[in-house]
Amino acid sequence: MMNTNFGHLFPWQLLTRFAGARMTCRLESNLDVIRLGKEAEKIIEEFKPVDQHGDDHAGGWKSVSLISFGGDPFESKVVPGKLPMKTPALQLAPYLESVLDAFDYDKQRVRMMQLLPGETILWHDDYSESIDSVTARIHIPIVTNSDVKFQISHEDCRWLAGEIWYGDFSFPHRVHNGGRKRRIHLVIDVRVNDQLLGLFPPEYLANRPKRDRIRGIIALMVRFYTWRRYRFGYMKRKQKSGLYQAG
Ligand SMILES: [Fe+2]
Repeated sequence: MMNTNFGHLFPWQLLTRFAGARMTCRLESNLDVIRLGKEAEKIIEEFKPVDQHGDDHAGGWKSVSLISFGGDPFESKVVPGKLPMKTPALQLAPYLESVLDAFDYDKQRVRMMQLLPGETILWHDDYSESIDSVTARIHIPIVTNSDVKFQISHEDCRWLAGEIWYGDFSFPHRVHNGGRKRRIHLVIDVRVNDQLLGLFPPEYLANRPKRDRIRGIIALMVRFYTWRRYRFGYMKRKQKSGLYQAG
């Protein structure tokens, strides 16, 4: 049985808390959440999102790309030799497209990600997804509910629809959708450069040494914690046991 009681006692949670390392930062936003929601539903209706790769979930975590490497809406990975391009999914969403155009930074992948009701994304890290590294990951929650549990290490993320958030996903994170409706987030990966850093308040940037000091040891802890899942395959086991029907 999945533990969906998100506590704060995993070793990395204790470490980030006691180090005073900040995991998230809210950015300024002024978005029309109703329009965002309507366009997101339309995209999902027309372009059935496909399973995210990886063994951090049992199949309830899906995405459709609005910007992908090569322009295919069902391509969610970084593809060497191809450039980030708008996909046909954006043609259904003029407001969303204008929001993305106005976010004039070096955008890489932009994905509409849905987590179905009752589904969980297990603890994992995305090592280069940090403002202290190569790519920063920005989230715009579009549809969410009060029964979503979401943690980046020790921080409980209660992000509301229409807000814009940066999260340091190089640290371990996990999500559970305990609500009755799917959770939809727009996830924008942006290359880190001085222009992007200018978006962040100085006190968040000044917190970097606290993160840098513990990032390496936490990555080792997470490797140790997750190796069996990656070796034997969480999704494969769930499918074999008959608990999960791919669909
Ligand atoms: Fe992740």
